[in-house]
Amino acid sequence: MTEEKIIKLDMGALRGEDNDECPILCLGIESSCDETSAAIVDSNRNILSHIIYSQIPEHQKYGGVVPELAARAHILAIDTVVRQTLDAAGKKIEDIDVIAATAGPGLIGGVLIGWMAATGIAQSTSKPLVAVNHLEGHALVPRLHASAADGSDIKCGVEFPYLLMLASGGHCQILLVRGVGAYEQIGQTLDDSAGEAFDKVAKMLGLGYPGGPAVDARAAKGNPKRFKFPRPLCDKPGCDFSFSGIKTAARVMLDKATAPYDDEFINDFCASFQAAVVDCIVNRLGHALADSRVRDAAPRTLVVAGGVAKNSAIRAAMERLAASHDMTFAAPPMGLCTDNGAMIAWAGIENYRVGRVVKEPVAPRPRWPLTEL
Ligand code: KG4
Ligand code: ZN
Repeated sequence: MTEEKIIKLDMGALRGEDNDECPILCLGIESSCDETSAAIVDSNRNILSHIIYSQIPEHQKYGGVVPELAARAHILAIDTVVRQTLDAAGKKIEDIDVIAATAGPGLIGGVLIGWMAATGIAQSTSKPLVAVNHLEGHALVPRLHASAADGSDIKCGVEFPYLLMLASGGHCQILLVRGVGAYEQIGQTLDDSAGEAFDKVAKMLGLGYPGGPAVDARAAKGNPKRFKFPRPLCDKPGCDFSFSGIKTAARVMLDKATAPYDDEFINDFCASFQAAVVDCIVNRLGHALADSRVRDAAPRTLVVAGGVAKNSAIRAAMERLAASHDMTFAAPPMGLCTDNGAMIAWAGIENYRVGRVVKEPVAPRPRWPLTEL
């Protein structure tokens, strides 16, 4: 009898699943806004080290990010952040398999600094380099780690396809995430992002920068029915957002009231504003779930990501919406919602696994829609 030749195929690895024996190690760098961050993540979903240097204190006195100051701070911080990330993981650069960095979109001074650092490391060590779209970092990080609305862990991250509400300081869009590099935009904001609305309303109330966390905390103590905010576009079909009307309504109402505002006023104002944002998100996502592209893809998970995903009311409302559609709700753990190096390292691993590495020089881009990947 001839001996059968058995070729053992690692089907898990072919499907891009975890492989305990020989994980890929990726060093990821993020510098597109006001965080200089680096992380080492492996393909078994372990974050070996993660350093986030937040510049928020440097920008606070200006009420927002000052691009030139941000770029200078990134230059000063980048070497130390990368060095500390390697040290914290107990790794040398030779141990790393892939280098990844944000190549856009974002404040171009910062993007350039992180991208040049990553390019230098990759070239001097002859390691593969991945140019990560910052939005892709937010979009894929729920596959690294995800939580339910009560904060409990969802094992093994979220599976494709999923419907994603990507809400950050600079972006607001609904995406059908079909796979790595396959993002279909179902809706987007026509003016401000959700994070911008939170930041601007917080500024009007004197709550400081960034405004989202302060508004979230105040809203939890307030009456959401006291102030009448509009719900722009909610009576219209489609999945696009508009937040500028909510912001203008806030300005008009505040101009009519007499400053200084007491605590009860601020809490009720924040709760009423936040309720309007939540209603818009739920309305637009409801339309997205009825969109034929989404119905055909039949995503099983409704996901929120980006800095605004930290918002407790948005998480709770999206969880209710998911349940009413027999879907699971997921969000990155709090520490992976706002900008961070781990999401870039993870996007680096996902892209590397499907062969999306830099083959010729890449110019960093201030604008880079996910649909142009
Ligand atoms: O993703 P991110 O760190 O930066 C961008 O890529 O833009 O998001 C920052 C945004 C800020 O607008 C901030 O106010 C908002 O996320 N944010 C929140 C909360 N925490 C952060 N918005 C609402 N509620 C929160 N708890
Ligand atoms: Zn971001």
